[in-house]
Amino acid sequence: IADEAFIRRLPKAELHLHLEGSLEPELMFKLAERNNIELPYASVEEIRAAYDFTNLQSFLDIYYQCADVLRTEQDFYDLTWAYLLRCKEDGVVHTEPFFDPQTHTDRGIPFEVALNGIDRALCDGEEQLNITSGLIMCFLRHLSEEAAFATLEMAKPHLDKIIGVGLDSSEVGHPPEKFANVFAAAAELDLFLVAHAGEEGPSTYIETALDILDVDRIDHGVRCTDDPVLVDSLAENRVPLTVCPLSNTRLKVYDNMNQHPILKLLEQGVCVTVNSDDPAFFGGYLVDNYMALVEGLAMTRAEAVALAANSLEASFIDDELYEEWL
Ligand code: HPA
Ligand code: ZN
Repeated sequence: IADEAFIRRLPKAELHLHLEGSLEPELMFKLAERNNIELPYASVEEIRAAYDFTNLQSFLDIYYQCADVLRTEQDFYDLTWAYLLRCKEDGVVHTEPFFDPQTHTDRGIPFEVALNGIDRALCDGEEQLNITSGLIMCFLRHLSEEAAFATLEMAKPHLDKIIGVGLDSSEVGHPPEKFANVFAAAAELDLFLVAHAGEEGPSTYIETALDILDVDRIDHGVRCTDDPVLVDSLAENRVPLTVCPLSNTRLKVYDNMNQHPILKLLEQGVCVTVNSDDPAFFGGYLVDNYMALVEGLAMTRAEAVALAANSLEASFIDDELYEEWL
């Protein structure tokens, strides 16, 4: 059985982390005060008590509301820097975080305000913490493909600060193929492609993300277990899945961690990785997610090593660099 000190020391990459989802209630209060915003909660305890989710949408409603405290470039810097300090504690050597530009531009915050604050923190993280990174911007799938195109257009002058595009928000009813044209346009710009698929949505969304969007990785992807043929094909092609154990139990994809399929998928040869998704909302950062697998599934040291190695393999950094860490 793996233990916390062992897991903390393993070099790991985090590949599925929404920066807006790393906003801790304490920082939320600080930013609300700084920006003269009245929060609908009286205390940190009251906020944490509101994080009692029944499904993905019940989380997203609160998550978008909380993001409203992020107003200035410094707010986005502080958010990102706080996350990077947690990475350092957790032995994360490389991270490819997401941000949701439309969550900010739709309430009047310029694209550059969010991007520049995040980018400045990521640059400081490389210099001061020795954590490498690559930023991924996600399109909100409950909005139109036209709106995603407008966001891609805003990103064009800043492609030195963005390595890829992703797809997140409400999954069911918004299949990957809705975004076929904008993903093709992003591929033309040499951006990496990822998409949330098979979290609450069916395994067919994983297939269309791969076949129609041509993504390099699948975010979540756990519902592949409904289709054994798909599982074989994911294993054979080493398609990475960025799995988020605490997110899956908090959003009731599984009632209990002992039902989580991640270690079974690992055994079947699928390139599964461990990630924290929205750690401030789901009760834990990367090491906490590994430890949840120790507690729920009696994960061994060998399994923890394999998952950490998968995260480096699945990252978008040069192969020479991750071989140095392996
Ligand atoms: N799924 C979809 N959208 C999201 C998530 C998620 O897990 N986290 C933040 N936005
Ligand atoms: Zn996610």
